[in-house]
Amino acid sequence: MSNPRFASDNAAGVHPAVLEALDAANRGPALAYGHDAVTERAASSVRRAFGGKADVLFVWGGTAANVLGLRTVVDSHHVIYCGEQSHLWSDECAAPENYLGCKLQPVPTTHAKLTPDLVRAAIQSGPGVHHAQPRALSIAQATEAGTVYSIAELGELAQLCRERGLLFHVDGARLANAAAALQTDLREVTADVGVDLVSFGGTKNGLMGAEAVVYLTPGIVGAAEFHRKQGMQLASKMRFVAAQFEALFTNDLWRENAVRANAAARRLEAGAAKVPQVEIVHPVDANAVFARIPRQTLKRLGERFIFHVWSDHPQRPTVRWMTAFDTTDAEVDEFLAALGEATG
Ligand SMILES: Cc1ncc(COP(=O)(O)O)c(C=O)c1O
Repeated sequence: MSNPRFASDNAAGVHPAVLEALDAANRGPALAYGHDAVTERAASSVRRAFGGKADVLFVWGGTAANVLGLRTVVDSHHVIYCGEQSHLWSDECAAPENYLGCKLQPVPTTHAKLTPDLVRAAIQSGPGVHHAQPRALSIAQATEAGTVYSIAELGELAQLCRERGLLFHVDGARLANAAAALQTDLREVTADVGVDLVSFGGTKNGLMGAEAVVYLTPGIVGAAEFHRKQGMQLASKMRFVAAQFEALFTNDLWRENAVRANAAARRLEAGAAKVPQVEIVHPVDANAVFARIPRQTLKRLGERFIFHVWSDHPQRPTVRWMTAFDTTDAEVDEFLAALGEATG
């Protein structure tokens, strides 16, 4: 059986502290649908981490966190600008189009990062009724290429959003990895730079299946609670989703996990870069390593490890190797040894 360790950060298990929190939440009855003390405490923890004032809704899935988050701020005549490689555009099975019913405009990027110039060039709608109207910018932080926007880059995008009247959404499925990489906190990469709403991921950072939609700008939460129910993401036993977040914010577990995942990726990158004919294609800022490798290496390595071929090419396909909070140095070293052997 091939080893799935580097296939995805979702291949990782659940952090033991999260399982303990689930066990603790499992003592006796509690009101359903989020009307319980655990959910209240968890929402407060998330709110505090993002600056104190946010509205917070828990859901299970990352696609849902993106789509439901955006649901409150777009109408069917709106445009959302996003990166061409974004999860929103390319990995959500048209859930945004189906559920939001508005236009998504993918923008070509380098290393999956949008810039104000790229977005400006993409905004072509006129003001009249014949054109869908610019409404939101969605970026992923960290990006799908494993790169991280700096605080300055985020500030520039926020400035553009203000100029053009766009709401600024962050797909933060890996926001913890980004904040850890920037050695800052969650608030500084979101609320403090002018982000309006965040889909904050827990699942890739040690939770079992828990994400939070964080509405930072007062008033934009709108009818989100109703949309969550309509979107089939209102957990009846909500306390077990919330308890996971409580664990994530106890002793900054979110940061500890993200630091470990990022460090494993750096170790992997450093080792892989020494293997002849292996070319790292994106800066390794967070917990993903993208590499162009010979086809023969792909074939041989693929017999031992499962990972994604990101873009196929007859001679030199590009592959993605992900690390997680529980990736050990020994696992990275074993993988690097296999990579060296496979490359000959
Ligand atoms: C950037 C990004 N956003 C969101 C998601 C969440 O997706 P899912 O609906 O599979 O939880 C993922 C998962 O791979 C992702 O990489």
